[in-house]
Parts: sequence; C-alpha cells; structure tokens
Amino acid sequence: MHKIVRKKTLSDENFLIEIHAPQVAERFLPGQFVIIRIHEKGERIPLTVADVDPKEDTITLVFQVVGKTTMELSSLKEGGTLLNVVGPLGNPSEIENFGRVICVGGGTGIACIYPIVKALSGAGNEVHAIIGARTASLLILEDEIRRASSDIHITTDDGSKGHHGFVTDVLKKLIKKFKNKGGVDLVMVIGPPVMMQAAAEVTRPFGIKTVASLNTIMIDGTGMCGGCRLFVNGEMKLACIDGPEFDAHKVNFRDVISRLSMFEEKEKMAVAHHKKCLRGKK
Ligand SMILES: Cc1cc2nc3c(=O)[nH]c(=O)nc-3n(C[C@H](O)[C@H](O)[C@H](O)COP(=O)(O)OP(=O)(O)OC[C@H]3O[C@@H](n4cnc5c(N)ncnc54)[C@H](O)[C@@H]3O)c2cc1C
Ligand code: FES
Repeated sequence: MHKIVRKKTLSDENFLIEIHAPQVAERFLPGQFVIIRIHEKGERIPLTVADVDPKEDTITLVFQVVGKTTMELSSLKEGGTLLNVVGPLGNPSEIENFGRVICVGGGTGIACIYPIVKALSGAGNEVHAIIGARTASLLILEDEIRRASSDIHITTDDGSKGHHGFVTDVLKKLIKKFKNKGGVDLVMVIGPPVMMQAAAEVTRPFGIKTVASLNTIMIDGTGMCGGCRLFVNGEMKLACIDGPEFDAHKVNFRDVISRLSMFEEKEKMAVAHHKKCLRGKK
C-alpha cells in the first residue's frame, strides 16, 4: 500500500498527488514513469514521475482526469492509499550538456517535462521552456518551470494567457531567433501525440535533434504484453522498454494516434458505468 501524503488540485482537470513510494524515490531518473493500480479491481495506468523527495521517500504524480481510472484517482484524499506503484519504468532521458535546448510541454506533458527541464538546466544547458494548454486555467507548474529554466514562453489555444495559439508557433519563432546565434542543439517535446508530431515537423527542415516521449497504451510496462508497440524508422519498438523517448523525426505518429483511440467505445462505457455507480451510492 502506498499512502497519499499530499494532494493538490491544480485545475478543474489536473491534480497532483505525492505518494509514499521509497523504492521508486530512491532509483528514479528524469523521464521515467510508474504504473499504478488503485485497488484490486483497478486498471493499471502509467503516469510519469514529475518529482521525487528522496528524504521523505515520496514521488509526485500529476495527472489529468480523462477517464474512469483518473476520475477514481482524483477522488482519493490525503491519507488514502494506492494498492500498487510499480517502477521506476522506462529508460531515463539522455541528460548531458547539449548547449541550447528547447523543452516543450503541452497539457499534462508540462508535468512530464518538468523533471527533464530541471535535469538539463542542472547539466549546464541553456534551457528555453515552452508550455501550452487549451486555456489559462489548465496551465500547470508554471512557477516551477520558470525557476528551473533560462526563460519560459506560455501559449493557450484560446488566447487567455500568453501567446494566442500553439506551442509550435513559439517553437518556430525561437528557432528563427537563434538561427544566426548558434542555433538550437536539442528540442524535447512531451504532450498530446498530434502536438509532438507537429513539433517534429517544425524542427525537421532545420535538422535539429528532436526527442518525444510516447504515451502509448501500456498494460504491464515490462515488455510482455505488446500493448505499447509503435514504429520507429519502420521498426517495431516497445515504448515501455525501448522508450518512452524516441527520435521524433522517425516515429510513425499516425499509427500511434490511431492505436490510442482503439478502446474509445469501451472507455466511454467504463466512464458511464462508473458515474452510474457513483449516483447509486448517493
Ligand atoms: C509513459 C506514459 C506516461 C504518462 N504520464 C502521464 C502523466 O504524467 N499524467 C497524465 O495525466 N497522463 C499520463 N499518461 C496518460 C495516462 O496513462 C492516461 O491518461 C490514463 O491511462 C487514462 O486512464 P483512464 O482510465 O482515466 O482513461 P480511459 O478512459 O481509460 O482512457 C482515456 C485515454 O487515455 C489513454 N489511456 C487509457 N488507458 C491507458 C493506458 N493503460 N496506458 C496509456 N494510456 C492509456 C488513451 O489515450 C485513452 O483514449 C501517460 C501515459 C504513458 C504511456
Ligand atoms: S506495456 Fe506491455 S509491452 Fe509495453
């Protein structure tokens, strides 16, 4: 059992929980994730570790409510427990002194990019962060990312804060700005697959190394089930053990996007059933 020692509501849809998980806290490296299960009948879902506190033996997870399990997770209170927290899973991000790096986070991808921003800054890089969300109330960890980076750029789809538009608009501008000033050495991007695909297309003509963290459907997280398979440069890979980070210019995003919606009908049914059960309890 893993106790929730802190819970914070970040927005209508986004929550932060700090969980007692000593084995993960001790071994975690930026870019890795855990697979959690709330109770015995619960589904296993992957969540990126946004932060750790090795002194307190805790890890921080930030999640967006998108379906039944994240809805259940959001209803847990401080002092409540999760049945399993398995990890750290996946390969850590490549952290070294690349020079000038742009880190792009969209939606809950902002939380996933945060430990990477911190680690890349710590390794001596000049880190420019771009964070974006549908609307201002969904922007998360802005202050934390501001503190960890050289500068931060904000975008919202509806123009309620920062640049009115997409993270890719700012990415284009920064690449142009740095073109005759040493260029950009690396772009890291985490967010919805369509956003990562669009970012890859922005950097491709400039030949800038671009790394994306793939949020494919995962079940065991250990390479056994094949649920997280994707194609990179025409070769089949498993996001859980070969990734989750891959060269964004080589990922077949069309396939990733279509596989993510494979269970859409069943997911809708699970949410409807969960809501009905909740109404029954009242
Ligand atoms: C490596 C990795 C790290 C992730 N990190 C985060 C994070 O830090 N914060 C966050 O909010 N989300 C993260 N996700 C996505 C998160 O796992 C899904 O939002 C969650 O599983 C949805 O479950 P649900 O029952 O609430 O929704 P459902 O209604 O079951 O599904 C809604 C959508 O979530 C995705 N999804 C559902 N089940 C899974 C699954 N087993 N594995 C992956 N995706 C699934 C699908 O796109 C699906 O259409 C991550 C995914 C991966 C693969
Ligand atoms: S999640 Fe099962 S093989 Fe990757």
